[in-house]
Amino acid sequence: MVVTEVKPLIKNEVKDMEKKDIFPIAIGSFGLGASRSESWSDDNSELVIDENEMNALIYSFNKGQNYIDTSYIYAGGLTMRFIAEFIKRIDRSKLFIAVKIENYIEKVEDIEEQLDKYLNVLGISYADTVLLHTPRASKIPLEDSYRELQRLVSIGKSKNISASNLNIDELKMIVDDLKIDLFSFEGLYNLECKQNEDVGIIDYCKKHDILFFNYQPFRRNRTANHNYPVLVELTKKYNKTQNQILLNYYVYEKGLHPITKANKIEHIDLNLDALNFKMEKEDYEKLNEFRCKAFDDLEVDWLDQGGISIYKFANQVE
Ligand SMILES: NC(=O)c1ccc[n+]([C@@H]2O[C@H](COP(=O)([O-])OP(=O)(O)OC[C@H]3O[C@@H](n4cnc5c(N)ncnc54)[C@H](OP(=O)(O)O)[C@@H]3O)[C@@H](O)[C@H]2O)c1
Repeated sequence: MVVTEVKPLIKNEVKDMEKKDIFPIAIGSFGLGASRSESWSDDNSELVIDENEMNALIYSFNKGQNYIDTSYIYAGGLTMRFIAEFIKRIDRSKLFIAVKIENYIEKVEDIEEQLDKYLNVLGISYADTVLLHTPRASKIPLEDSYRELQRLVSIGKSKNISASNLNIDELKMIVDDLKIDLFSFEGLYNLECKQNEDVGIIDYCKKHDILFFNYQPFRRNRTANHNYPVLVELTKKYNKTQNQILLNYYVYEKGLHPITKANKIEHIDLNLDALNFKMEKEDYEKLNEFRCKAFDDLEVDWLDQGGISIYKFANQVE
């Protein structure tokens, strides 16, 4: 007989969130609380909280969306201050907070300095996961940056390590060579941009139980604006919007966790409702077969040496 040891629950002990606890659709934050600009700088201007936007964010959380992707570069830190206010209004222990280390890591100490900034600005004692926004954020060898992330986990500043925008060799190096158990991977994937799947990154993540969060799942609504016949046909068949068909496809057919930013309650409701139905197999197959020539004609610069890097890819075509 296998005897399972039952650990007594210490009062006030906060249970770490596990992969299985993560809601299928994550909250994106680019554009929250302030304009959609990017730079790691301190915009010290007064943050005026738009209560409608704040209520929408709280609404998402109350509906179960418990993973938030953040970056200090969003609006020069103003987005972080907006999220800090959000965190004060909810139960932090039920929110999974991903923070991104940005350009540039010139020396290993820069990583802890950036992570500390997140903790201070957000008013939290730990991040749930920490990742380098792009491998090129690291001017020191990538291995050294990831070893430092391991150290930061060991001293409790983050619960987990994640990654983003790596190429397949870099991903294998981190998982196979450094033996880092990545919690998640943030990568581009949408109906038109399937490059992360083509090169085997999505498959690799699945095999290694790494949650794949696909960013820009609607390509900021440009996908729907094309009115591709297959999407239009499915909207009629299932009486759903194009974005709902897309979310449903990512979650139920591809096993991904789309990250979308939505600050209108009607959009949040539509996104959540996208999980309430299943399509027929042949319809998922049609979406699997869909290819976008305009994107297929472009080449990803997986080494990020001045060509079209994966994180810029989705914005190359209208
Ligand atoms: N790791 C990385 O390199 C990386 C790169 C890019 C993005 N990201 C993350 O991924 C997140 C998502 O990307 P994104 O915000 O650029 O693009 P997106 O999620 O594809 O598009 C966001 C836009 O879609 C609208 N929207 C949301 N739900 C909708 C619905 N049901 N119907 C109609 N419109 C809807 C939003 O409008 P409203 O806001 O008006 O509701 C917003 O304008 C970002 O916020 C960021 O956190 C990470």
